[in-house]
Amino acid sequence: MELERSIEYQEMMLKYEFAKKKVETDLEILLREYAFKEGYNPVEHIKSRIKSYERIVEKLKRKEKEITVTNILSNVSDVVGMRIVCSFIKDVYTIADIIRSTGEFILKSEKDYIEEPKESGYRSYHMIVLVPIHLENRTEYIPVEIQIRTIAMDCWASLDHKLRYRYPDKISLELENEIVESANDMLEIDKKMQRISDVINKEV
Ligand code: GTP
Ligand code: MG
Repeated sequence: MELERSIEYQEMMLKYEFAKKKVETDLEILLREYAFKEGYNPVEHIKSRIKSYERIVEKLKRKEKEITVTNILSNVSDVVGMRIVCSFIKDVYTIADIIRSTGEFILKSEKDYIEEPKESGYRSYHMIVLVPIHLENRTEYIPVEIQIRTIAMDCWASLDHKLRYRYPDKISLELENEIVESANDMLEIDKKMQRISDVINKEV
């Protein structure tokens, strides 16, 4: 039988759904409290999703792993993915601090692709947190990938994704370089906006 229809898979996905709900609610509370206290909301928007069975299978195949529940649990850390898009570069770090400082999640790993962008030009701050879900007589910790980035970084990432997925074979080295260049242009915009925001904040 295909794994997707098995009880084992469905039980695992149920836990991922709970983790998605839990992280959405906890973060909404934390971020709204911050906005209330500071009189400033760093968040533009938040999106979360659960990876489809097809994408999970794709990822395991790419990693040359068998399609099993155990392999999903140990090899796919973004079954639940959350993306927090914020206004300015400094907001990314503010939000990462807020997430880090809550006692609710266990921080499994962090990657700062803003300080060290990927070769593609990709910039974002990634965190994998373990989210406790309280089940009958026990608590289980479920991984959730959180990506934090500015609107400019998000804009680039969406377009990059579209270009690569639609025309995977058409990307010459020259075009590849242009994509990296566009990512750097986006960074310049982010830096300029950050400078403007810093000046305005100093004046008020
Ligand atoms: P994988 O998800 O298996 O790649 O795990 P990993 O440990 O390499 O995670 P990584 O931190 O590299 O990033 C995973 C996610 O970041 C991807 O699922 C994308 O959403 C995003 N991402 C990483 N690199 C790029 C990129 O070059 N372009 C775009 N658009 N998104 C990227
Ligand atoms: Mg990767």
